[in-house]
Amino acid sequence: MPKGLRELGIDFHSATFIADPYPTYDVLRQESPIMFDPDWQRWFVSTYEDISTLLRDRRLGRDMEGAPKPDPHTPFGELHQNSLMEKEPPHHTRLRSLVNKAFTPARVEALRPQVSAIAHRLLDAVQPRGEMDVLADFAEPLPVIVIAELLGVPQEGRAWLRPWSQAIVAMYELSPSPEDARKANQAVSEFSAYLQGLINERKLAPRQDLISALVEAEEEGNRLSEAELVATCILMLNAGHEATVNAIANGILAFLRHPEQYDLLKRSPELIKSAVEEVLRYDTPLQLFHRWVREEVDYQGFHFQKGQQIALLYGAGNRDPARFPKPHCFDITRQDHAHLGFGAGIHYCVGAPLARVEMQVAFQVLMERLPHLRLANQTVEYRPNFVIRGLKALPVVF
Ligand code: HEM
Repeated sequence: MPKGLRELGIDFHSATFIADPYPTYDVLRQESPIMFDPDWQRWFVSTYEDISTLLRDRRLGRDMEGAPKPDPHTPFGELHQNSLMEKEPPHHTRLRSLVNKAFTPARVEALRPQVSAIAHRLLDAVQPRGEMDVLADFAEPLPVIVIAELLGVPQEGRAWLRPWSQAIVAMYELSPSPEDARKANQAVSEFSAYLQGLINERKLAPRQDLISALVEAEEEGNRLSEAELVATCILMLNAGHEATVNAIANGILAFLRHPEQYDLLKRSPELIKSAVEEVLRYDTPLQLFHRWVREEVDYQGFHFQKGQQIALLYGAGNRDPARFPKPHCFDITRQDHAHLGFGAGIHYCVGAPLARVEMQVAFQVLMERLPHLRLANQTVEYRPNFVIRGLKALPVVF
């Protein structure tokens, strides 16, 4: 019998684990790469090969008949019910095809100059100070502004996006409290009312933005209900910045801790694409996602029963030595870019092309403008979340 998490001394809530989960993942992968944990009442999977295979197995999914769900009469429950991320085909296919068009690599590539201008503006504001908090001054505002502009959220509404989003995504952590649920419900109510206002405006006067495009899809052929329209806008706005904030900050921290890699990138800027993929592998922003067992599965001698839940540890898979030689080494010249940072299978991140452009631009502009970037303190503090894992702050001097 593989050992359970408690026997292995693994506590997902501990600050030490959150600060550096990777040594723990090594133990887990060696001792119990696939195991049913009695305390958590779910399976945990930590090898690259297994996560990658299971993500593509259509007998598993993000939704299944009879899956326990948040009460659909609450604002968060209604959002959950209408979110494409929580659906399986055919609903998933219908909703995803509508947003897919907005994020093709070609469309997103056209946004590069705009993203670059935003990054420059943010650095203009801090450059004279000689210091900044990477999170508050750069990594947070950049993706928030980009996704707000893409959807068409005006300047005055943008300050709310991050607090609303953070209250909502707290529900995707491993054990949200009743207080988390209360805050999430309040955030969804306010966010939905705000978006409903924007949607009504776009119905009267469409613009060149994603909200107008989705409104048009709703009006065209009943392909999108009003509740789905609101849920899709909220999903885009939240998913469109939460992980990117941490991906940018994690990447900058990795460069600051490996100055030789920062120097290498300065000397060889053509490595930018591979550097971004390495950041996503090395310090994966979204550490875990679940799948439901929709139909029984016999896999590697284990029996997944219908209705069970499987937690896939993307961060562990990305540090698996069986897939990535010297997995704990941050190496921007690494050629294997098939990491699990954006997931795999039908729920593969729809925003991956945009996230890539944002990260590439963020690192490029930072490198050009602040070549002598240094950490202000040797220790850094993480927020208490494990699933959406990221830094509280990242003070730097330059
Ligand atoms: C570095 C930044 C990002 C990372 C690491 C990331 C990661 C992920 C991952 C791992 C998934 C799959 C979840 C699963 O397996 O269940 C996912 C799904 C998704 N992401 Fe991202 N994401 C990022 C940026 C974005 C952006 C910029 C957008 C939107 C503009 C976005 C929108 C979505 C959506 C809508 C889904 C759900 C797709 C579906 O269920 O079919 N993400 N993302």
